Amino acid sequence: MKKILVTGGTGFIGSHTVVELHNAGYEPILIDNFSNSERSVLQGIKNITNKDFSFYEADCNDPNTFQSIFREHKIEGVIHFAAYKAVGESVKVPLKYYNNNINSLINLLESMLKFEVNNLVFSSSCTVYGQPDSLPVTEDAPIKKAESPYGNTKQICEEIIVDTCAANASLHAISLRYFNPIGAHPSAEIGELPLGIPGNLVPFITQTAAGIREKLTVFGNDYHTPDGSCIRDYIHVVDLAKAHVKAFELLDKKTAGFYDFFNIGTGKGSTVLEVVKGFEKVTGKNLNYWVGPRRPGDVEKVYAAVDKSSKELDWKTELDLETALIDAWRWEQRLQQK
Ligand code: UD1
Repeated sequence: MKKILVTGGTGFIGSHTVVELHNAGYEPILIDNFSNSERSVLQGIKNITNKDFSFYEADCNDPNTFQSIFREHKIEGVIHFAAYKAVGESVKVPLKYYNNNINSLINLLESMLKFEVNNLVFSSSCTVYGQPDSLPVTEDAPIKKAESPYGNTKQICEEIIVDTCAANASLHAISLRYFNPIGAHPSAEIGELPLGIPGNLVPFITQTAAGIREKLTVFGNDYHTPDGSCIRDYIHVVDLAKAHVKAFELLDKKTAGFYDFFNIGTGKGSTVLEVVKGFEKVTGKNLNYWVGPRRPGDVEKVYAAVDKSSKELDWKTELDLETALIDAWRWEQRLQQK
């Protein structure tokens, strides 16, 4: 069974990807330092898969981390999720983001080259496009100046991978540019665990519905969109997780020095108010919300062109927004029982 190392394996996207790798016949090996997750996620993964995967509580910035794992296991490929991702915090403490997100990738690549681990899938973000000139945004759209140090780390990391692949014919890599991952595993065994007050829309919605937050602020209704609120491409985290399995299948077929990047979204944009109303409809709960000012740094609208990923990765989404909102709500209710 092929072993895939998953850094950030207990995180939101990492944990769902571990489950999908297992479903596709791979053996995931996990690393996490629990900087933004919890040990209980391992139990959630076990409850779904009935398996105890190898797990290392370790820091990706420590060169020994990868070297000892690569010595112990024959690893076919790595999915590198581990990174800080709070946009607002990255503006306040940029060096924390540059240090962690960039050094961990360099560390990983150096160890991969040394131990001849040749396949890498990197977690990137649609944030690299900024506000695109035309929509849906295609992969060949120009990369805009990053809005935040977090976004800049994604751009820099993609460039580091391009240069490393160009210089090392043995290496194959794919960057996946995620749009807005939401939802949870349908079993409600794993899901998103926001630290403190959620910055992202859907966890804020579910916490408001659960009574943890008093009310949701919709950040602006004066954008140039049908109802005035921002448009994003919300993708079910299980669909997103499956894209990583497809990325490995593609890397397996490729020859030396291959690098490419793909949009991972649904291709459909939804406004903030559509998400709010969709949530009320599928859960039957009234959400306490008001329209407040715009949030600085928000782009007006962005959604993915998915032609390239559907054709070349042979991947497309299967779950809709309503399903994602039902699953997110089921997960929030499970958290309340804990
Ligand atoms: C953000 C990041 C993105 C990152 C992603 C990680 C920016 C500009 N982008 O995406 O780079 O990969 O998080 O999860 O920060 N909203 C509200 N009220 C809320 C929260 C959000 O109205 O309480 C609105 C926002 O204004 C936005 C939409 O909901 O229009 C989605 O926001 P969010 O979930 O934070 O994601 P992004 O900002 O799109």
